[in-house]
Amino acid sequence: MRKPIIAGNWKMNKTPKETKQLLEELKPLVKGAKPTVVVCVPAVDIQAAVRATKGTAIKVGAQNVHFKESGAYTGELSAQMLVECGVKYVIIGHSERRQYFGETDQTVNLRALAAVRAGLTPIICVGEKKEEREAGYTNALVTYQTLIALEGMSESEVKSCVIAYEPVWAIGTGLTATDEQANETIGVIRSAIAAKYGKRIGNAIRIQYGGSMNPKNVKGLMAQPHIDGGLIGGASLKAEDFAKVVNYED
Ligand code: PGA
Repeated sequence: MRKPIIAGNWKMNKTPKETKQLLEELKPLVKGAKPTVVVCVPAVDIQAAVRATKGTAIKVGAQNVHFKESGAYTGELSAQMLVECGVKYVIIGHSERRQYFGETDQTVNLRALAAVRAGLTPIICVGEKKEEREAGYTNALVTYQTLIALEGMSESEVKSCVIAYEPVWAIGTGLTATDEQANETIGVIRSAIAAKYGKRIGNAIRIQYGGSMNPKNVKGLMAQPHIDGGLIGGASLKAEDFAKVVNYED
């Protein structure tokens, strides 16, 4: 019922030239793929990515967006700027933004609202740290992060968002949540959305897992009923690996 969505998060990797190379390699490998395929590239690579993916089903995403339309916000990009460049998706509230750049649940909410209202699909990241899981706070924390991020949106705006559940301890560490752990926490997120916005929205919204997802573990994770896709860091930097994740059913 929910179309799977596999998104690459390139983080601070690849120059425009390398972007073109990687995407030229990727294109034939993911042609006709069942999931929605997105590559979230550094801002300076957007133009190269849009050009290289023209006429394909691959969508281009950004890795952040500011909440104001314009103004004195050095280093930031507005939603309209991204839209005009051909961007369709944008990652918001990645744990690296929260950890290193002071992103809070409130700024995540503002950015998500600006994105959705400009017609971009936000990929909103939530997830607990290791010590938070060990202390038993995972469910409360991801519920809070998710509901705050969506605050002020209409039901149809909520439905159009993608949530990425990324346990912080699994990002870039090679540690993956077990299939059951990931499914259980994503189920909690889905229930929280259903409780606030109604069952229909809860059933319709796409929720990804992220954190060391790779060609080896993708199948097990994707077999879980609540998991609708993946946000892929390391394994999205090689066309062959990313294509294997995208084509997990083959
Ligand atoms: P990873 O990163 O796949 O390298 O763990 C995922 C992410 O940070 O989105």
